[in-house]
Amino acid sequence: MIDSVAGFAEALESERACGRRVGLVPTMGALHTGHCSLIERAAAECDLVAMTLFVNPLQFGDTADLAAYPRDLDGDVTVAGTSGADIVFAPSVEEMYPGFPTPPSSSVHVAGVSERLEGASRPGHFDGVATVVAKLFSIAGRCRAYFGEKDFQQLAVVRTLARELCLPVEIVACPTVREPDGLAMSSRNVRLSPAERKAALGLHRGLDVGLRALRGGERDIDVVKGLIRAEMAASPLVQCDYAEIVEAQTLLPASSAAGDLRLLVAAKVGPVRLIDNEGIVLEPVPPEGTFVPAGALAGTGKER
Ligand code: PAJ
Repeated sequence: MIDSVAGFAEALESERACGRRVGLVPTMGALHTGHCSLIERAAAECDLVAMTLFVNPLQFGDTADLAAYPRDLDGDVTVAGTSGADIVFAPSVEEMYPGFPTPPSSSVHVAGVSERLEGASRPGHFDGVATVVAKLFSIAGRCRAYFGEKDFQQLAVVRTLARELCLPVEIVACPTVREPDGLAMSSRNVRLSPAERKAALGLHRGLDVGLRALRGGERDIDVVKGLIRAEMAASPLVQCDYAEIVEAQTLLPASSAAGDLRLLVAAKVGPVRLIDNEGIVLEPVPPEGTFVPAGALAGTGKER
């Protein structure tokens, strides 16, 4: 356990000096199996795994949401160790942002990719994420950093900032871990009542309906988005914020149902805001009149 910025930087530097490859897993704690999958992957690919545990106030627009964020430092340290973490960096807010609540005078804004979807619904959220991640990368130094596809837009923001700021960090994307019934694991799920927990499945069901429509040959993006929204609206407890289909590389709205696409949803379930996403790769539809061998178009959607 390390709680000082200088101590964490020195620990990783001396590990690298001994020739060890460092894996970094940034988290806000309240660890679940999704977080553990990142630690396990890092442990399989690196010589030393450092998990960071910091509930970053800069990325919460709403103080009530920040206050309600689940915290369990002792439990998290145990789970991190069992999953293969060697170091847990858990700084205080004062250590990361001296003088807080006065915000730091330097911050990172990733234009474009951070302004749509979650960025539009949660103004300032990705500036907070980008600022803390840039700071963690800067403290950690050369490493591989593991992020979940569960937060697909965050992954795109982090990739962009690492590349454009020339930070010596290789970003590794890890698949979303789900509960047996399909609900994406999230630290926020513990705040759902039993009825809300049941209703929350609507996000995954909506994505599933969208994937099936695309796989079944539906090529009208607006129709697919409508089907996803309708499925999510089946429960009165689910207030859909958005159901979007974007190009996976740019996160720009998909102009046609072809290529590497991502279906993204966000909704409030009771008091809790949840997000989820799924990927699909679709072959372009050949122009009318083109000869297509039987079966060549059926089931071309490869889910990821
Ligand atoms: P947090 O929500 O704690 O998530 C930490 C990491 O775990 C992120 O990379 C997230 O995508 C991943 N993760 C969460 N749920 C997952 C799941 N079900 N399957 C796979 N991976 C999952 O994301 C943050 O913290 C913060 O924004 C952070 C990047 C730490 C910056 O403060």
